[in-house]
Amino acid sequence: MRLVIMGPPGAGKGTQSALISSKYGIPHVSTGDMFREILKRSDGLANRIRKYVESGELVPDELVVEMVRDRICRPDCEGGFILDGFPRTVAQAEALDRMLESAGKELNAVLYLRVSEEAVVRRLSRRRVCERCGAIYHLDYNPPKRPGVCDRCGGRLIQRDDDREEVIRERLRVYHEQTEPLINYYGEKGLLVEIDGCKEIHQVWEDVQRVLDPIASRGDC
Ligand code: AP5
Repeated sequence: MRLVIMGPPGAGKGTQSALISSKYGIPHVSTGDMFREILKRSDGLANRIRKYVESGELVPDELVVEMVRDRICRPDCEGGFILDGFPRTVAQAEALDRMLESAGKELNAVLYLRVSEEAVVRRLSRRRVCERCGAIYHLDYNPPKRPGVCDRCGGRLIQRDDDREEVIRERLRVYHEQTEPLINYYGEKGLLVEIDGCKEIHQVWEDVQRVLDPIASRGDC
């Protein structure tokens, strides 16, 4: 299955992608996670992207497109993938179309998680992530068993640098301006499936499976 998951910052894309990856056995390809890995280094590429990620701006298309091209050409993506955080502009979506077309493949669905702006701010300001394995928690909605410690790997839980309120507002502005047009882009291609992302995590997950189970059982992807 080749999927895209989209929605505003904090919609639950990373949370649902982890569940999708585990149930359907496809790699979770998150451009945000890839950039955060690069930012742990101090080389030229890290210095180039730092100012964009930390201020909530988009990294230039050509850098992102190359990174995704390299990633989805790897053998583990042969049977499919879930793209989280990409594409984020119409130019990136067109580049993805070209990549898939040249490989004789196509997307099966684009999941769009719809959530309100208040929910986004509530979720992101109380999000914690594991600095070692990237697992995602929320202090109220999905807390770890032991405060500050990852259930999965025992790593330390931290707040992301871009989860400060002024950066969250900027990320939302950028989303409305540059990413929202993709709702029409994929709607016109008949790929868009809208999901109510305001429900609780397990309810959203049930809705996601209702969409993906029939696609997975067709076995033609
Ligand atoms: P990225 O990491 O992709 O950030 P984002 O799109 O802003 O999304 P988030 O990771 O913040 O949220 P999410 O939707 O995954 O929500 P989550 O599941 O964590 O990108 C970061 C930066 O990298 C960008 O700003 C940009 O600079 C750069 N970048 C990345 N891709 C790029 C691209 N293609 N082009 C250019 N630049 C790019 O959930 C959020 C919180 O809510 C968690 O605490 C979670 O536990 C909780 N939660 C989740 N679901 C629910 C629910 N249903 N109910 C209650 N709580 C919930």
